[in-house]
Amino acid sequence: MTAYTLAFKPAIGLYGQHDPSAALFEAGTPVFGIEEERLSRSKHAVNTFPEQAIEACLDHRDLVLSDVERILLPYDPRLQRKILPHYIRDAMSPPGIVGKLSALEQTAVTQAQAQFRPVHEITSRLADIGTPVPPIETRSHHACHAASAFHPSGFDRALILTIDAKGEYDSTVVWYGDETGLRRLRTYEHPNSLGLFFAIVTEYLGYRMFNGEGKVMGLAPYGNENPDIERTFRRLVSTGVDYDVTDLTKRWGTDHGIAQLERAFGRPRNESPGDFDQWEKNFAYVAQKLLEETVLDIVETYSSRLGVQKVGLAGGVALNCKLNKRIRESPRVDDVFIQPVAHDAGLALGAGWLDQSPSEVPKMTTVYLGPEFSDEDIREMLETNKIPYGKPANLERYVAERLANGALVGWFQGRLEMGPRALGNRSILADPRTVESRDSVNRFVKHREEWRPFAPSLLEEAAPDYLENAAPSPFMIDAFRARDERKNDIAAVLHPADGTTRPQTVTAEQNPRYYRLISKFESITGVPVLLNTSFNDHAEPIVTTPVEALKDFYGMGLDTLVLEDFVIEKAPTEESAGDITDRGSAILNRTTE
Ligand SMILES: [Fe+2]
Repeated sequence: MTAYTLAFKPAIGLYGQHDPSAALFEAGTPVFGIEEERLSRSKHAVNTFPEQAIEACLDHRDLVLSDVERILLPYDPRLQRKILPHYIRDAMSPPGIVGKLSALEQTAVTQAQAQFRPVHEITSRLADIGTPVPPIETRSHHACHAASAFHPSGFDRALILTIDAKGEYDSTVVWYGDETGLRRLRTYEHPNSLGLFFAIVTEYLGYRMFNGEGKVMGLAPYGNENPDIERTFRRLVSTGVDYDVTDLTKRWGTDHGIAQLERAFGRPRNESPGDFDQWEKNFAYVAQKLLEETVLDIVETYSSRLGVQKVGLAGGVALNCKLNKRIRESPRVDDVFIQPVAHDAGLALGAGWLDQSPSEVPKMTTVYLGPEFSDEDIREMLETNKIPYGKPANLERYVAERLANGALVGWFQGRLEMGPRALGNRSILADPRTVESRDSVNRFVKHREEWRPFAPSLLEEAAPDYLENAAPSPFMIDAFRARDERKNDIAAVLHPADGTTRPQTVTAEQNPRYYRLISKFESITGVPVLLNTSFNDHAEPIVTTPVEALKDFYGMGLDTLVLEDFVIEKAPTEESAGDITDRGSAILNRTTE
């Protein structure tokens, strides 16, 4: 009988607050994985038990809960006891004896639950899904991040760094991985947290923590070196392998750190996020610089100490692709694997891999672990909704021509991606060649800050032609400088301030249809690249179902929607007049009938 393991990351009570997810392992291999937000439709699914994600895992193999051999939780609340003194100190900070007593009581109750009934709440939530509830085992948060960065890396031995805001008592952990598994070398405990440091910077600039960090990274290149800001910053934090950011992070949350920044810099936090003056751009620049020099020093110190040149990263901070670029370019580093689901949703994957022998885990090359929808489902949905559609004889050629003529295309294919990036299955695509194209995506589709860059998908074999120090980069989690002679070909997907780009390299093995589409675009335009941004409206999770894609298509300024083999156009086009062979019961282009 096939052995199934279900791993899931809850975001309730003691189990953290954001990015819940679930993954189903079949004989040790992940066969399904999804973030709860993709089903609940609430971004980051804050304070949510991943019930829909668990049910989607079971549905994928037509299982009931009791068919699962065991359940793995990538978080062990019992390990929180190490940070109990910090909780007590935080509890003592509210003014007045009543406030203190109430906070202390809350702390005592929480800790008692963690020690004596660590999985009680989880068991009762699972009993609503099915009984009997299979045995539940817990694994440490950072060990699961570490397994997600090492086991599927393809490396025999590697330095592994896991960096986030906090998992139990850990904030940053240095690991050594080899064929026997993972060994913990150094732990930077809460509250000495780089994730929380960058979250405080993010909130000081007006964005929300665990949400706006990528925007701060994108803002940083618009800033410059600024000795005044840097001097003041360095009085608050010390960087490098023995970093200490606790002057900012010593209280959980961001209020204390923001107050410290306001005092040190004599400026209030930004109340109009997205609209930055030069000082704020310089501030982002310096914050990113301090983060980079700290992580780089940890990497270089431990890689030389261990004599390893391969590095794996996970944890929310590993989503920082500018940081990842610095690590990849280090002379001490030969190769880097960044877990594409680096944030907490990826813990479900790490938990499932952690107990396995690393050499038996195949190298991870795609993240297509979510649900898919058949042509029949889609045709029925279109007909029920009286949506005119067509079915081009050569879909990739048809869509490539539309893109080359400036259309903004919603592209929905195959299985939903796990992780924060759309990688050609739930993507909005556009011509990468001009700044006007980028502006058009901003104006008609994404409704976001104009200074933020878009990213490209390009054929893997073309990467050396377009990127300096090119390497396969299938997950859009690393940045590269574009070659000067190619910058005019891909103006829409460069960071305007520094000429870098965050590519997805595509092979025929990883995604055959997407590969064919980009190849067709190349045969028309000479450029083997597309602008690829996630298929979602502002502040919404990436679309999961065809109905969600259809709603976004009509709610945004997209021209063309591709759902598997079917095409929907908002207006008749030249391409659709000549290329559609099967018009179903409805038609794409009424004018040609
Ligand atoms: Fe984490």
